[in-house]
Amino acid sequence: MVPRRPAFVPDESGLLFASFAAEARLSKRKDRMAAAVQDLKNLADRAVAEIAACADDAALEAARVRYFGRRDGAVTQATKQIATLPASEKPAYGAAVNEARARIEAALESRGAALRGAKVDQGLGEREDVTLPGRPVRVGRLHPVSRAIRDVSRIFGTMGFETVEGPEIETDYYNFEALNIPPGHPAREKWDTLWVSNPLGDDPKMPLLGRTHTSPMQVRIMEQRKPPIRVVVPGRCYRYEATDAIRESIFFQYEGLAIDEKLTMADLKGVLYSFARQYFGSQHNVRFRPDYFPFTEPSAEIAFSCVICEGKDPQCHTCGGDGWIEAAGCGMVHPAILRRVGYDPERYQGFAFGGGIERLAMLKSRAPDIRMLYQNDLRFLESF
Ligand code: DAH
Repeated sequence: MVPRRPAFVPDESGLLFASFAAEARLSKRKDRMAAAVQDLKNLADRAVAEIAACADDAALEAARVRYFGRRDGAVTQATKQIATLPASEKPAYGAAVNEARARIEAALESRGAALRGAKVDQGLGEREDVTLPGRPVRVGRLHPVSRAIRDVSRIFGTMGFETVEGPEIETDYYNFEALNIPPGHPAREKWDTLWVSNPLGDDPKMPLLGRTHTSPMQVRIMEQRKPPIRVVVPGRCYRYEATDAIRESIFFQYEGLAIDEKLTMADLKGVLYSFARQYFGSQHNVRFRPDYFPFTEPSAEIAFSCVICEGKDPQCHTCGGDGWIEAAGCGMVHPAILRRVGYDPERYQGFAFGGGIERLAMLKSRAPDIRMLYQNDLRFLESF
């Protein structure tokens, strides 16, 4: 009889076979792993050599992409591979990938540094010649008018006058009435100006105008302060005026005011002569003559000798041929004005003066025509 084979008998030979097979598989896998690790080493060797031979930035960048490019870089691919391996193989393979990455990164880094260094060396060869003369710096300067304003402030400052400023847009009251020039007074014709409309509404009792002189500040200052007063007021003025060699419709004046006990015409003359000496130097002639202004009594006019023709040219455009240039009006402050601001004229006297800033600037810079100051021609302005 045929012996019946039990349904389930462990088949030794089969078992044996299975274990051989497993072993075989195992050793095959080990071989594969060793090969893979070796491949990575070869890859890194090749990469290091390649990178060391890169001649420029573009070649180096191409090498970086070849190994670390996001999608197809060789090291990137190997890294992705790690995740697909059985747990037992991950450490060895992973370590090999890391080593390859570190070697290639170091090679990229050192080649990059070498190329940068070479570039700097090259640049050093093209270095600028630091011994060449530099580009000239154009130094600015003050406009002759600005300089005259500063000189006026400085010189009167040495005599105790404080510089203050006042509004360019004035009321009719301060520009005229408070200075003894009521409506209809003939002096108004001499000082015609631009009238200004107030965007917030005009007050018929207080018409506004571009001030025709800095004299309104005499009254404003006296209203605000108590004697003794010594101020000088430089500022822009406006007049309805035909422009010529010595007149502009927009121009600058300086006003002076001194109020104290026992002030006389002698003080006024002393201050103005001292100013002329300091501004022009001693060689300049000064003329003092009686004049008329509604807000001073007595009044005078101060004139400087013409620096352009020195009185020798009867055709001179600047002085009109008489050798003198009117520089300032002046006088003793009218008692009616002192009374109007509440000062007692028996106790306080004052002197005032007002002159054109451009005239001073012209005389100093020897500009024969006031308009030259405002044409912004650098050839003229740079010559001072
Ligand atoms: N304000 C006068 C003008 O513009 C000049 C002047 C004259 C000013 C006499 C004064 C003065 O202070 O006392 O022509």
